[in-house]
This record gives sequence, structure tokens and C-alpha cells, in this order.
Amino acid sequence: MFYRIMESKGKIGIVGSGLIGKSWAMIFASVGYNVVLYDVEEKQVTAAIESIARELKQFESEGTLRGDTLTAEQQAQLISGTSSLQECVQGCVYIQECVPENLELKIKVWKKIDEFVGSETILASSTSCIVPSKISADLNNKARFIVAHPCNPPYHTPMVELVPAPWTDEKTRASTRQIMAEAGQGPVSLSRELPGFVLNRMQYALLNECFRLIKDNVVTPQDLDVVMKDGMGMRYAFMGPMETIHLNAEGTQNYCDRYGETIYDVSSDSGPIPTCWKQESEEDKATVAKIHSMMCTTVPESELYNRRLWRDQRLAALAKLKRSMK
Ligand SMILES: NC(=O)c1ccc[n+]([C@@H]2O[C@H](COP(=O)([O-])OP(=O)(O)OC[C@H]3O[C@@H](n4cnc5c(N)ncnc54)[C@H](O)[C@@H]3O)[C@@H](O)[C@H]2O)c1
Repeated sequence: MFYRIMESKGKIGIVGSGLIGKSWAMIFASVGYNVVLYDVEEKQVTAAIESIARELKQFESEGTLRGDTLTAEQQAQLISGTSSLQECVQGCVYIQECVPENLELKIKVWKKIDEFVGSETILASSTSCIVPSKISADLNNKARFIVAHPCNPPYHTPMVELVPAPWTDEKTRASTRQIMAEAGQGPVSLSRELPGFVLNRMQYALLNECFRLIKDNVVTPQDLDVVMKDGMGMRYAFMGPMETIHLNAEGTQNYCDRYGETIYDVSSDSGPIPTCWKQESEEDKATVAKIHSMMCTTVPESELYNRRLWRDQRLAALAKLKRSMK
């Protein structure tokens, strides 16, 4: 047991100390919460705490540390670990579950957490695609259950989707939004649960068109990526598609008056969902294999790890630039 409580604005429990759990711990500590990490693998907690201290120091030296008042060392001191689930979740204002994406496991873990929590604690899951009603249906405290889905890596992509179950109460929806805003994690509140939430629905709509264009030999994957990274993505890094269209004409009404018919006609030409996602036929399997090998000419499989490190460094620099713009 290696549990430590310091003066703080409240206690947050993190259940699951992998990639996402570690990031949440750093985000909450950056604004002064006392964070307690738990994992079924005790050594995972020790490793997470060691790597958090290292990463916070590194972010500080690179100027990408989050939070306005606390140093890397002060933030690290707010984070501790425990090998007891009860100790992690008792007395928390907020709990963020970050165990692997498996419905049966999440139900099992939440049933245990449910036994220990107080009547005010917010219960949040990081799940990427399981709707909250499936995880929380049998919990005693289900009115305070919500999904808080981050983007990866959460520390440098500060957005979180807040997805309520049908029984999530108003207070939980509002308080979660407030905690996230305070932690600098731009909250996006959904009025109801639906498959894919918002981020993945947008991502999949885009990917469907990308796969259609590549499969039909209209454009190579490399050139298609240029359209995003040197074109659309330049403005999307600081302005969403809705504000983009609002500015691209004399407001959204004028944009629809001018371009609505064209958009409708082009969209009608787009075609159905590519069947290659399912890879049921030999043709679909061949399509995926071909796109994969085309992508490997840009990033060979042996280089994926290094390229991810490069990506995270670029994201950190972009996050720093965006903070400086505020
Ligand atoms: N990785 C991403 O890109 C990403 C992005 C957004 C959301 N998420 C979601 O976040 C959650 C966690 O993902 P991750 O990438 O951090 O996974 P991970 O595998 O890195 O970490 C999961 C951790 O949970 C621990 N664990 C397993 N069973 C447990 C139990 N019964 N009690 C406590 N801890 C347990 C594991 O030991 C591990 O340390 C998933 O639901 C995932 O869908 C992931």
C-alpha cells in the first residue's frame, strides 16, 4: 500500500492505470485535485506513478505542462497509488474508470465500485464506444453514471465527450461538465447516448469517403492525407467545421443558400458504406491489404512506434501553440 493524501481541492479516483488512466491522473492533478490510482496489477500502479513523474518533468522542460499554478513536482505529489479498490474510490468527488474496453469487465468493475461510493460521487467511464446504459443498468448509483470519453492522447488533445445514460441526472451532467472545464478538458455534452458518440461518428463519416476515393483509384492515400494536413486540417486545428462554413460565406444561412444544392448533389454521388470494413469477401480483404501496403510505403510497420512518439511531440507543440492563442 502506497497511499498518500495531501491538501487539495478534492479526491479523484482512477481505476485502471494504463495509457488513459495515467493521462487522466496528470490532467486532474494539473489543477490541484488529489488523485489516487488503482489497478488490478499492483506493479502497473508503481510503473504509472514513476512514468507520470518523468513525463511531467519532461513536459515542464518543454513548456507543455498543463495547469497555471503548480510545478511538475507539485503536480506529481498530488498523485498516489493504492492496491485497494475501496481505498481508491471512497471519499471521491469523481471517479474515472479506465479498464480495458470489454463490457463484461466494465460491468464487473463498476459493480464493485458501486458498493463503496458515497451519495455525491460522480461515476465516469472512459469507454470509447460502449453506451453508458449497458455498463450502468444494474448499479445502485446509476443516476450518477456518465461516460467521459477522451481523445488520445488525452493530455495533449484536450476534448472530452460527456455521454449520459437515460437515467443520468441533471446534476451529474452539469457537475461533470464543470469539472472537465475546470481541468481544461473542453467538454462536449451529448443530450443522449448513441453508437459512436459524436467523435467517432464524425471520424467514420470522413473515413468512409476516404476509403471510397482510394478504393476507386481517385487519389492515393498519401495525397488524400495532404488534403487534410495541409488543407482542411490547418483550420480545423483551431476552428470546427460549423464555424468554418459560417465564415466561408456571410453566415450559415448564406452558406446553405449558396452551396446547399451543390453539397446535396455531391453527397448523393458519394456511394454506400464501403463493405471492405467487414472484410467478408476476398475482394474486400484484398482492398484492405492494398491500402495497408500503400500506407506502409510512408510508415513501415517497424517504424510505427517511433512515428507515434513523433505524433505525440507534434500534438504537444500544437497544444502549446493553441494555449498561447487564448
Ligand atoms: N487508448 C486509446 O486510444 C483510448 C482513447 C479513448 C478512450 N479509451 C478507453 O479507455 C479505456 C482504457 O484504455 P487504455 O488504452 O488505457 O487501456 P490499457 O490497456 O492501456 O490500460 C488498462 C488498465 O486497466 C487495468 N485493469 C484491467 N482489469 C482491471 C480491473 N479489474 N480493475 C482495475 N484495473 C484493471 C490493466 O491492468 C491496465 O493497466 C478503454 O475503455 C478504452 O476504450 C482508450
